[in-house]
Amino acid sequence: MKKFVVAAALFAASTGSVFANTVFEKPEDAIEYRKAAFQLIRYQIGDMGDMLKGKVPFDAERFKVRANNAAALSSMPWEAFIDGSDKGGTEALGAVWTDRATFDTKAKAFADYANALAVAAQSGDQGSIKKAFGDWAKGCKDCHKSFKE
Ligand code: HEC
Repeated sequence: MKKFVVAAALFAASTGSVFANTVFEKPEDAIEYRKAAFQLIRYQIGDMGDMLKGKVPFDAERFKVRANNAAALSSMPWEAFIDGSDKGGTEALGAVWTDRATFDTKAKAFADYANALAVAAQSGDQGSIKKAFGDWAKGCKDCHKSFKE
């Protein structure tokens, strides 16, 4: 029993997440998972951007849903950058694995900004919504320029 507990603790420490390696049987699963998360993020940012630019009427309730989705989704892709998933059908650059600290810092900031956006959306205040949206949206290019083909 003791041995099992120690092994489980070591496993958790080495992967950063207890379920990361159990949910993905192959690197391709991880690649598919993170791409799906990014695709869903893309739809949220698209609709929120359209509302803020006035391309479609601003709808506070719809914006709240989008911002909540963004908050949930923005912490999802990162567990799927597992070892071995740098090859195959991926546009992730090797830098994700060779400069993991920078990647993780950007990913964490991105998730934090998405949470702040969800809070701002609840307030309904246009000024803070626009600011929070801008802070979150900046993260896409900022990360892609160093970590995505
Ligand atoms: C911390 C880094 C990081 C942040 C932040 C980030 N991305 Fe990405 N994104 C990546 C990486 C790495 C890939 C490549 C994934 C792959 O191909 O395995 C990617 C891929 C994508 C893809 C392509 C998915 C596919 O089907 O191939 C889209 C779309 C995308 N990101 C949109 C966004 C948007 C929109 C944002 C901001 C709201 C964003 N990303 C924020 C790192 C990031």
